[in-house]
Amino acid sequence: MQIISDSNHLRTALNNERGKNRSLAFVPTMGNLHKGHMELVKRAKSLADIVVVSIFVNPLQFGPNEDLEKYPRTLSTDKALLFSEGINTLFVPSEIDIYPNGREQETIIVVPEISKILCGRDRPGHFEGVATVVTKLLNLVTPDYAVFGEKDYQQLSIIRKLVHDLKFETNIVAVGTVRDDDGLALSSRNMYLNEDERKLAPLLFDTLAHCRDAIASGFDNFLELESHARFKLIESGFSLDYFTILDAQTLSEITEDTKEISILVAARLGETRLIDNVRISVNTATDWGILAAQ
Ligand code: PAF
Repeated sequence: MQIISDSNHLRTALNNERGKNRSLAFVPTMGNLHKGHMELVKRAKSLADIVVVSIFVNPLQFGPNEDLEKYPRTLSTDKALLFSEGINTLFVPSEIDIYPNGREQETIIVVPEISKILCGRDRPGHFEGVATVVTKLLNLVTPDYAVFGEKDYQQLSIIRKLVHDLKFETNIVAVGTVRDDDGLALSSRNMYLNEDERKLAPLLFDTLAHCRDAIASGFDNFLELESHARFKLIESGFSLDYFTILDAQTLSEITEDTKEISILVAARLGETRLIDNVRISVNTATDWGILAAQ
């Protein structure tokens, strides 16, 4: 596995691979790799000859009062995991390499509307930071495929839109959320939870699943489902940013044209902000018959 920290060096190394007609899949990460990331890496391996993984804790996507400083950095274990998975190239750039003009002077990518709702409303600037770093990384790696997790569903939707709008040739591939046995979606931030919070955390997925099952059995009063779910989470000790049922394609209100429904939640336990989501396909516009749930 080659470990590269300089973007010019990365371009040269990858041009060399492409010269040999090799296809390329890319998995951008912020490190502290867990089973969820390793599923992305495995999918990337199944898609292309060469897999590039990046590890960069992107300061631009953290708000002033967020966890940039304490975000877990575990480079040596991450390297070992990627090495054992047979990854070809690991890119670990410095901040100055990615943002040579300094954070304040950088060109910023803004994906309109969809970046401003849900997590974008609660974390101003977050998705501009994500969109900017993903654009830079895609420009550097120019992969055939880039793989992202469905756990960050809004992020995935924003990246799909930016890749479409900016006419990148990369195919965006989504991988399902990996969960602990009790249903909690894997996340680097789970390690911030204390024992009591960790016991309570799976209620997020339980509530999503309950809501999904109710819709699957034909219940279509979404407002009632949302308020019931919000009440349950708040009563149990979560501080809620949102719990909402939306069109999975547009992340706006469900209409007669909705083909897939997304139920999304963001809530805090103590200082820790957790997000999760589930989706359901709908049969027809008027009949909420369910084809598949996940
Ligand atoms: O999902 C993440 O880990 C990050 O938001 C990403 C896509 C690597 C951009 O920093």
